[in-house]
Amino acid sequence: MKPRTALLLNGSPRRENSLALASYLSELLAEKGLECETMQAYRTPLNDLLSALEKAEVVVLSFPLYVDSLPGGLTQVLEEIARQFDGQGRSFAAVVNCGFPESGQAAVSLGIAESFARTVGFRWLGGLSMGAGPSMGGRPISECGGMLRNVIAGLKVAADDIVQGDEISDEAVRLVGMPLVPHLVYRLMAGQHFRTQAKKNGAKIYDRTYEWKRR
Ligand SMILES: Cc1cc2nc3c(=O)[nH]c(=O)nc-3n(C[C@H](O)[C@H](O)[C@H](O)COP(=O)(O)O)c2cc1C
Repeated sequence: MKPRTALLLNGSPRRENSLALASYLSELLAEKGLECETMQAYRTPLNDLLSALEKAEVVVLSFPLYVDSLPGGLTQVLEEIARQFDGQGRSFAAVVNCGFPESGQAAVSLGIAESFARTVGFRWLGGLSMGAGPSMGGRPISECGGMLRNVIAGLKVAADDIVQGDEISDEAVRLVGMPLVPHLVYRLMAGQHFRTQAKKNGAKIYDRTYEWKRR
């Protein structure tokens, strides 16, 4: 069944990269005629979340990878939803972005999102995983330039799938999961970023709070 309403949930405690992905997907779905609402999973009263879920025929959760999993606070919110909500007749998809350049890092977290969706009774549409998320720098996706061209193409395919009421296609998963830049380039960029941050905070990158002592 083709959905008419969509809820885009930002599962990041910060309002940055996950929100940029959720907002972009919301724009794509709205262009195709869906009535869309975007909400923060964090710091939104549970009753407001539950009424938004009630109205939505499809829910898309966008979250960052934290320690190979979902952020702890988001897990708490999802557990509460699982206790109080029945997702029967609704569909659920997830988009995760992670700091490492390999999108495959987030496979386990998508498994957790799927398990949540099925436990609650949602129809699971599938998950998209994007590596090198910090490259977005919290900017709107349309301002991120050519580096995100495959992600954008993949999100467009995924939006078409969602609007048709279909599961997210392998092509969308493949495009969103492609490396943004060669891994070596990303490592050099990330290394420079960490060095700058360390300098700003008066630290050196190899500073240690302890010394390893050989026995
Ligand atoms: C507490 C914390 C834990 C993280 N753990 C991981 C991780 O295990 N693997 C990874 O690839 N990125 C990890 N990251 C990086 C984030 O997934 C990445 O910066 C993401 O773009 C943040 O998205 P957001 O702006 O929506 O919060 C972590 C970031 C934080 C703050």
